[in-house]
Amino acid sequence: SSRYGTACKVSLWDSDEPIPRTDLLQGVSGAHGILCLLSDRIDAEVINAAGPNLKVISTLSVGFDHLAVGEIKKRGVRVGYTPDVLTDATAELTVALLLATARRIPEGVEEVKNGGWSSWKPLWLCGYGLSGSTVGVIGLGRIGLAIARRLKPFGVKRLLYSGRTSKPQAAEVDGEFASLDRLVSESDFVVVSCSLTPETQGLCDKALFSKMKKTAVFVNTSRGAVVNQEDLHEALSSGRIAAAGLDVTTPEPLPTDHPLLKLKNCVILPHIGSATYSTRGIMAELCANNLLAGLTGSAMPSELAL
Ligand code: NDP
Ligand code: DGY
Repeated sequence: SSRYGTACKVSLWDSDEPIPRTDLLQGVSGAHGILCLLSDRIDAEVINAAGPNLKVISTLSVGFDHLAVGEIKKRGVRVGYTPDVLTDATAELTVALLLATARRIPEGVEEVKNGGWSSWKPLWLCGYGLSGSTVGVIGLGRIGLAIARRLKPFGVKRLLYSGRTSKPQAAEVDGEFASLDRLVSESDFVVVSCSLTPETQGLCDKALFSKMKKTAVFVNTSRGAVVNQEDLHEALSSGRIAAAGLDVTTPEPLPTDHPLLKLKNCVILPHIGSATYSTRGIMAELCANNLLAGLTGSAMPSELAL
């Protein structure tokens, strides 16, 4: 029971590992609500398997590219998600990844351990700094703006952003709306924080990398599929761009023999943008409350407008 005054029968996949598809399809049968993770693809097959009782899908994420939104809308099912509560944690991680990549921190840590640190050398392990730089943010949404706010005090000179529409809130960070072409050709750091949509799928490809500065650092904390990884590998291994930091990849997990993992100028994290204890706790509570509101037909704390 809860503040929504309802008692629910809960069928729980009691493991941190993703539920196998067959268990998911069986487990949702007859359910009124589904609480899912971003690793669960909720498509027509799952919705059919749930059947006509289904009223609400609540995802423990702000990204909803794993949900077949068109299909869900058609059936009158409501969707809950977790915007805002993970914005700060994800923006912090993005800044950490940007600095780690630009200043070659994982490489440096490795050199200390493997004996590569022989003495102080003038150009050894040099990277790129934010002071006086131009930063380009692809997708100045909640997280994009929070990243920009954090980067500005490092002495960033110009902040460009791209998207479908210009954003009045960009004024706070002196953000300049720019075409994607201009953003990538003028930026020292290109940060991707847009949502994954049919339009942004594969957006960061050979054509985009070829317009970037040779000294540019590319960072992606949105979704792996926004990047064409073969093209990124080519850009990094040929020195077309300086370095890349990725918190998201295709697939996830990235196979341990993946070519990107062999590159020193590519820093890859295992999708930990929102991973602070506090944030994950708040996300879980919001996700449960969205589900309960959907079950009782009341206003959800965070409902996705379909
Ligand atoms: P928002 O909806 O606030 O922001 C998404 C932004 O993407 C919008 O500003 C939108 O701009 C922009 N966008 C959409 N299409 C394009 C395009 N074609 N080109 C450029 N920008 C575009 O979402 P959040 O900021 O809360 O989250 C963003 C994404 O970050 C999530 O969808 C998720 O995939 C990812 N994420 C990753 C995490 C991690 O752990 N690494 C943690 C949390 C989120 P416009 O309005 O102009 O279309
Ligand atoms: C999201 O919420 O979309 C992230 O990828 C995980 O927090």
